[in-house]
Amino acid sequence: MIHKPMQDALNTQINAEQYSAQLYLAMSAAMEARSFRGFAKWLRVQATEETVHAMKLIDFVLDRGGKLELQAMPAPPAEFGGPIQVFEEALKHEQIITSKINALFELARSAKDYASEITLQWFVSEQIEEEANAGLIVSRLHAVGDQGGAIWYLDKELGKRAKAD
Ligand SMILES: [Fe+2]
Ligand SMILES: [Fe+2]
Repeated sequence: MIHKPMQDALNTQINAEQYSAQLYLAMSAAMEARSFRGFAKWLRVQATEETVHAMKLIDFVLDRGGKLELQAMPAPPAEFGGPIQVFEEALKHEQIITSKINALFELARSAKDYASEITLQWFVSEQIEEEANAGLIVSRLHAVGDQGGAIWYLDKELGKRAKAD
């Protein structure tokens, strides 16, 4: 059995992953509205990846005999700026998620909850990738700027993302 503080913290993280999916969907729609179909596609794939993250944690809670408690979440913003602003926000969001994962890992370690620690290890590694991906896009966007032909090239490039990773 999983102990209550860990169960509560995992339920909160499930909520955070589901909020991430909502946030990326909203960002995707904002990019679509500005005709950046490639950025929109990339963000939509990211939204599905966040749902997978939530499912991984849900399965873990249930496999440990814990109780899934889905929580309400705030609505994501409805308005966004251009691509640079969107991906800067995405990077900032992932940095916040990383700190939440680290706090969960710390809780697992202090409770000697080895099973949670091992599962959370996957998320620690995943956050390295998430920050690196968003960070790379931010720096490429800064290099090309929000205007001009190069941004459409980058848009096309990101639109090649076919699946969650
Ligand atoms: Fe995630
Ligand atoms: Fe990822």
